[in-house]
Amino acid sequence: MDWIKDTVNRVQIGQWILIAFGLIAGVGAFVIGITDNIPGILTLTFAIACAVGVWVWNWRSPRRFWILLGIAVLSFPVGVVLHNLFYALGILAEDYQILVGILGFLEVIFFLLAVLVAGPAVVIALIGGIITSWKGITGTAKSNRSYRRFIESHLISEKILKQFVNLARLSASGANRQPLKYILSFTEERNQKIFPTLSWAGYLKDWKGPVEGEKPSAYIILLGDTTLASSFQYDAGIACQSILLGAAERGLGGCIIGSINKDTLRENLGIPDPYVILLVLALGKPGEKVVIDDLEPEGDIKYWRDGKDVHHVPKRGLDELILDL
Ligand SMILES: Cc1cc2nc3c(=O)[nH]c(=O)nc-3n(C[C@H](O)[C@H](O)[C@H](O)COP(=O)(O)O)c2cc1C
Repeated sequence: MDWIKDTVNRVQIGQWILIAFGLIAGVGAFVIGITDNIPGILTLTFAIACAVGVWVWNWRSPRRFWILLGIAVLSFPVGVVLHNLFYALGILAEDYQILVGILGFLEVIFFLLAVLVAGPAVVIALIGGIITSWKGITGTAKSNRSYRRFIESHLISEKILKQFVNLARLSASGANRQPLKYILSFTEERNQKIFPTLSWAGYLKDWKGPVEGEKPSAYIILLGDTTLASSFQYDAGIACQSILLGAAERGLGGCIIGSINKDTLRENLGIPDPYVILLVLALGKPGEKVVIDDLEPEGDIKYWRDGKDVHHVPKRGLDELILDL
């Protein structure tokens, strides 16, 4: 029953509040009565909106909200048609009691889908889609933190990884040499060859790195092609940032790992000599909360975790960064 414990632990305070409102409204609706009773139907609609809100709470990519919007809009006419279809079939099948029962059940399900679920889902999808689309570059940069604990069961496909590398391909490159090459990893077998070669969060002395269930589900390894250039660090940094911003936009996240056992990684993946290993990007669906703190002029730059397991990253203020010369 570990997954139940895990799921409950992952539910955030805002979701608990929505669950509470949803339950009160749901029970309230049935107490008031929902048959031909507008206040009861509206209360039940509110309860369903709360349930949809809990479901989409952690969505960060506008794409998912727009897909939900499309499905929700379509589910109204589809629900109406199927409701009427099962109603008609129920009349035709009146001699077969079991069939009448099944068709009656389906008729009610599609009625509820069309009349009660489609509306709240459209509203939530619209609000979520607009909010996540309006995040802009500042919002995306803020949500682009270094995440080291993930929801490992959330897989990232090869197609998505290629889209990320395409962002790096479109990025700036010194003298436009474009000397970076990439290895993608999204299978358990290859991931297992990479994970043990990485070192995590040097400042967190008591933390050994992500455990089973919170490991990254994908990696992008950045290599420098020595036949094309001899220095790669600027290009590699820019490429990592492009990829991580792309990940943040999709509601994913990652961590740049520079502390790598390069000999073992080279051996594990059979990386040939002309390529130098630069950085590894560990990627996944973030499974931890990371916040930025203001760093006082004499404060400590070390990141840390509080009692609630929230990861804090102190950042120097703008006044300290911009020199008034
Ligand atoms: C070049 C580079 C190498 C890094 N190497 C590691 C690493 O080996 N292990 C790790 O856990 N984090 C690594 N990080 C992540 C930094 O620790 C992280 O960026 C820093 O704590 C600030 O947090 P933020 O990215 O959320 O702003 C690296 C970051 C950069 C830019």
